[in-house]
Amino acid sequence: MSARLASVTTYRKMGDEDLAQVLAIENAVHAHPWTRGNFADSLDAGYHCWLAEREARLVGYGIVLVGAGEAHLLNLSVALEWQRRGIGGELTRFLARLARDYGAERIFLEVRPSNSAARALYASSGFSEIGVRRAYYPAADGREDALVMEMRLP
Ligand SMILES: CC(C)(COP(=O)(O)OP(=O)(O)OC[C@H]1O[C@@H](n2cnc3c(N)ncnc32)[C@H](O)[C@@H]1OP(=O)(O)O)[C@@H](O)C(=O)NCCC(=O)NCCS
Repeated sequence: MSARLASVTTYRKMGDEDLAQVLAIENAVHAHPWTRGNFADSLDAGYHCWLAEREARLVGYGIVLVGAGEAHLLNLSVALEWQRRGIGGELTRFLARLARDYGAERIFLEVRPSNSAARALYASSGFSEIGVRRAYYPAADGREDALVMEMRLP
């Protein structure tokens, strides 16, 4: 019984008090991480900022902006030691359902072409590539394009 419970992902809203832990993950998993200010601004702006927990530990988080019938997935991250256990997929489904519940018919995101893990996750979650934003991201040697992906929310 406890082994079953231990494998369940639970979700709760992110608050200012969580930012130290969130930033520890953010800085560990992204080459160009969001700053504390980026997270604080998202909370202040009322974006949907959610934490994923397993065994009462923070294992990932996601931020989605919903408005005018559309949603934008702004950040999705899973702690290094918890990756490849299905949490990214669960978090994506959780945030897509939430966006739909708040009236979004489509959800968009940007991803680096070099981020093969995220691209594979999004493709297996139902996103399709619909375009490119040139020189969207900072990169070690200048700028990197962004692939724009979209999923319709039934
Ligand atoms: C992208 C990320 C969120 C995936 O989270 P995760 O919990 O490891 O993903 P899951 O375990 O749910 O994987 C779901 C599927 O995505 C694909 N995938 C995930 N990581 C992968 C990797 N490193 N290489 C290849 N495919 C990968 C696989 O198809 C996987 O299914 P499988 O494990 O059955 O093969 C995680 O790697 C991460 O936080 N990366 C750093 C932050 C980041 O890049 N965020 C996205 C920015 S747009």
